[in-house]
Amino acid sequence: MLFNEKVKKTIEKIYRKVEVINNPTCYLYFLDDIREKVNKIEKEAPKNLKLYYAMKANPNENIIKFLKSNEYVRGIEIASEGELRKALKYYEPKDIIYTGPGKTQYELETVINKGIRLINVESLVEALRIQKTAHKNNCSKVDILLRINTDYYVDDVEENMAGCSSKMGIDECQIYDVINMIKGLDKINIKGIHVFSASGVMEYEKLTKYNQYVFDLVNKLQKQCDINIEIIDFGGGIGIDYSGANLQFDIVKYFDTLNNQIKDYNFENKEMILESGKYLVGECGFYTAEIIDIKDTKNYKHIVAAGGLNHMRKPAATGVKNPLYIINRNASPLYPNQPIVSAETVDIGGPLCFSEDKLSWDDYIEFAEIGDIVVLSQSGAYCYSASVLEMLSHMYPEEFIIEGEYNEI
Ligand SMILES: Cc1ncc(COP(=O)(O)O)c(C=O)c1O
Repeated sequence: MLFNEKVKKTIEKIYRKVEVINNPTCYLYFLDDIREKVNKIEKEAPKNLKLYYAMKANPNENIIKFLKSNEYVRGIEIASEGELRKALKYYEPKDIIYTGPGKTQYELETVINKGIRLINVESLVEALRIQKTAHKNNCSKVDILLRINTDYYVDDVEENMAGCSSKMGIDECQIYDVINMIKGLDKINIKGIHVFSASGVMEYEKLTKYNQYVFDLVNKLQKQCDINIEIIDFGGGIGIDYSGANLQFDIVKYFDTLNNQIKDYNFENKEMILESGKYLVGECGFYTAEIIDIKDTKNYKHIVAAGGLNHMRKPAATGVKNPLYIINRNASPLYPNQPIVSAETVDIGGPLCFSEDKLSWDDYIEFAEIGDIVVLSQSGAYCYSASVLEMLSHMYPEEFIIEGEYNEI
């Protein structure tokens, strides 16, 4: 969602609330933007594609609840016992998929006893643990997906999940032997495969080529291992643009091609799963922090905001900056000629006494002064929960959920 007049007005209203006056930092999530993303997927996706929400992108319970209220969203993907507990407040066990490269015995035991829909098995060790646990607890067969680290590498994306040496999944060259071993385990039922390739993909053709590779792999596995792969889980992967140019992944062409691929391979009876995180919620969010100080130091200016890496670690951690905006508020200066930013390039940091505490850097800013608000858009995914909220024990930023117009003050 672009930073526009509506977003600006909403932030200005929220900054009049007492809790924000006392802790002038916050996240805003616009639910209408999430609804728009779900609607786009529903409109274009193949009929046999099921949409799951990858909770790790943003575990805010109001977002989880909102997605649950949309009938098109088939379920939720979790990756820990904590996420399971949150998911169970809103979803039935049959709507939950559990993924992740390191599941403890306790976590496995918990999800097996709850009877969630699918467990993503990421190693032979994990399969054997599930077998033992199901026997110990007298459970019926556990439905699993096998996560494969395919040989295919998607070039030039934010993050590769497959096609390289990785802790995620089982290497493609080992998967045939692993399937044959798992087939001998009486408590495990292989329902399908999980083939998450890459995150933050902006060009649809990259995923399209990968999907072709996966469909060939499915045919090979079915033939050589004599199994029926009912489910193909693509994981997440659809990206959002952080350049500020509002580029969009071409979802229409992507799903149109996927539809044709499904027809070509006669895969209409297989279930395709998309566990989307970044695409669903990344664009709905804004991080904001008041400018507390401006330092003119050794020929370069630094804006010091009320929150930094402790609230919003993503830019510093990934090296990818978020689009930046300044809301001017004309606060009275504390002394004449106090530093301002005027048509120059500056860094923006937070209140932590570490130089890596940066919200942004090398930014050309037309005008900013103390009391203004720094706004980072595209902050709905992997931002709040991926930050070091306990660092220096600063206050946590409030999270505001906006639906329609924001009127409350
Ligand atoms: C197993 C799994 N599924 C889905 C996702 C969501 O991916 P994205 O945010 O790229 O949509 C992730 C993210 O790391 C993941 O690990």
